[in-house]
Amino acid sequence: MAFAITQNCCNDASCLSVCPVNCIHPTPDEPDFGKTDLLFIDPRSCIDCGACADACPVDAITRVSRLAPDQVIYAELNADYYRDRAADHLWYAPKFPPPNVHDIGRISVAVVGTGPAACYAAQAILRTSDARVTFYDRLRTPGGLARFGVAPDHQGTRRIGEHFRSLFVHPRVTMKLGVHVGADVEPASLADKFDAVVYAVGADVDRTFDVPGAELTGSMSARTLVGWYTGHPDVAADVIDLTGIDRVVIVGNGNVALDAARILTSDPDSLVGTDIAPHALRALRSHRVREVIVLARRGPEFAAFTRSECQALVVRPGVEVAVAGSVDAINGLPLSAPASALAGAPVVSLDSLPTDGRRIVFAFGASPVALTGSDRVESVDISIGGDVVSVPAQLTLRAIGYRGSELPGLPFDPETGTIRNVDGRVVDASGTPVPGTYVVGWAKRGATGGIGDNKLDAEQTVDALIADAPARASKASLRARLAERIGR
Ligand SMILES: Cc1cc2nc3c(=O)[nH]c(=O)nc-3n(C[C@H](O)[C@H](O)[C@H](O)COP(=O)(O)OP(=O)(O)OC[C@H]3O[C@@H](n4cnc5c(N)ncnc54)[C@H](O)[C@@H]3O)c2cc1C
Ligand SMILES: NC(=O)c1ccc[n+]([C@@H]2O[C@H](COP(=O)([O-])OP(=O)(O)OC[C@H]3O[C@@H](n4cnc5c(N)ncnc54)[C@H](OP(=O)(O)O)[C@@H]3O)[C@@H](O)[C@H]2O)c1
Ligand code: SF4
Ligand code: SF4
Repeated sequence: MAFAITQNCCNDASCLSVCPVNCIHPTPDEPDFGKTDLLFIDPRSCIDCGACADACPVDAITRVSRLAPDQVIYAELNADYYRDRAADHLWYAPKFPPPNVHDIGRISVAVVGTGPAACYAAQAILRTSDARVTFYDRLRTPGGLARFGVAPDHQGTRRIGEHFRSLFVHPRVTMKLGVHVGADVEPASLADKFDAVVYAVGADVDRTFDVPGAELTGSMSARTLVGWYTGHPDVAADVIDLTGIDRVVIVGNGNVALDAARILTSDPDSLVGTDIAPHALRALRSHRVREVIVLARRGPEFAAFTRSECQALVVRPGVEVAVAGSVDAINGLPLSAPASALAGAPVVSLDSLPTDGRRIVFAFGASPVALTGSDRVESVDISIGGDVVSVPAQLTLRAIGYRGSELPGLPFDPETGTIRNVDGRVVDASGTPVPGTYVVGWAKRGATGGIGDNKLDAEQTVDALIADAPARASKASLRARLAERIGR
């Protein structure tokens, strides 16, 4: 009957090494890896052993016969990946070299950040060497976006936090929480104190958005909404007041936009028992948002969300999912295209509210041209299909992506919003490596990719750290060289 991989998959590839028949693809050695939302199980080869389900840290793998009705589509999506590939197709066998324990001595490594990238980096360091790791985080609660980003109703995905928590009590790990590197302690003093420093500081600011009226009350970043419903310590409980808000317009159609649309239209009872912040649950109970419009500046073939996240929206009872404009381009998409989950959706006009229940409307080829209102947002002028439609809305969220910010004392690339690096080695403006200084995750490659994408990325950086370790200069000269590179 086979097993299938479902919505929660974060592409960390942990299941590959346990499959006795190599029927989970794409593997990291295959060209598709990192381009698909999920990994897929070939139902023709799966021998039903269940080993992958035991290995998955986010409970994404289920026996096909036990798929819940709203997950049955995943049997088809898994099989679809193999449709044009013969069962005896010569797959790349995944390579799992035994973890070498490198003899680099008991060096001490600082890892700045405690999000997924930091955790994968620390895991790789602890697994392959005798090094000791000290985690630093500016927050007192570790986990990064796995704690304060992943939506509270994604309980399966949030389970990755349990997987990481075991690291924080590892005998070779020290935790320094509530320490802001760059403010409480300088990179130069970390370079002085540790043999190597790995920066895993993520991307903590918004991409810029230049639309008249963007400064009005009621126009904010989706990052604020996310921090509000996850209980981020930087975000005040009263920053969002849903009173009088019937319609919300979200700009951007990545997975953050879909998280925001889903939470705002959820039946509050379905959020009880999740990790949602109590103030957010109270607000969602006391006022009901009737419609969320998700604006994508490009067509459905360029949708930034993943299919699994869109699929999760269309199967919810009590929330209609509709499309503004034509649905023809959507109906022609292949099953693997993210927006194909919207095939057959009803078409509605942007300025009509649902008569009953709640609704999410996807508008493709649509951009805001102005936000208007006397002292707060009252409506959004939206350009779509050559017309400008004025749509009453009381809250506008920018979900147009995140960017890294400069950490004083480290080389920064303003173009990409990342710490300047070559394959994880931090480099100065001339491309010369800053000794003993590394970067992983969103701070390394920009704000893109799910949790599992940070794993191979972190392992690449740790390979560099270990390769450099024997040739490393003394700590004293490291500090001098860092100061020299950054001109301080
Ligand atoms: C809203 C949202 C929801 C998401 N949901 C999912 C999901 O459901 N599934 C999925 O697979 N992926 C999801 N992702 C993507 C995933 O969260 C990222 O791939 C991942 O968190 C990036 O990891 P990171 O460690 O690079 O950064 P982060 O997770 O942002 O971690 C950075 C850490 O560094 C700390 N830090 C920052 N600056 C400093 C400093 N100067 N000193 C000390 N500490 C510092 C921060 O406090 C934080 O703990 C989501 C992303 C967002 C934005
Ligand atoms: N459940 C999950 O697995 C999950 C949840 C949340 C986030 N994540 C991951 O985290 C990463 C970041 O997600 P994200 O949603 O923040 O970013 P994203 O996927 O990069 O999406 C950003 C969206 O904003 C649009 N955009 C950018 N600049 C714009 C502008 N100036 N005007 C109008 N639209 C603009 C983009 O349109 P264009 O495409 O036209 O540029 C795109 O639709 C992604 O890799 C995502 O998959 C995963
Ligand atoms: S999350 Fe990891 S272990 Fe689970 S199915 Fe996806 S790749 Fe496999
Ligand atoms: S159930 Fe067993 S055979 Fe099937 S994909 Fe999982 S590990 Fe492989």
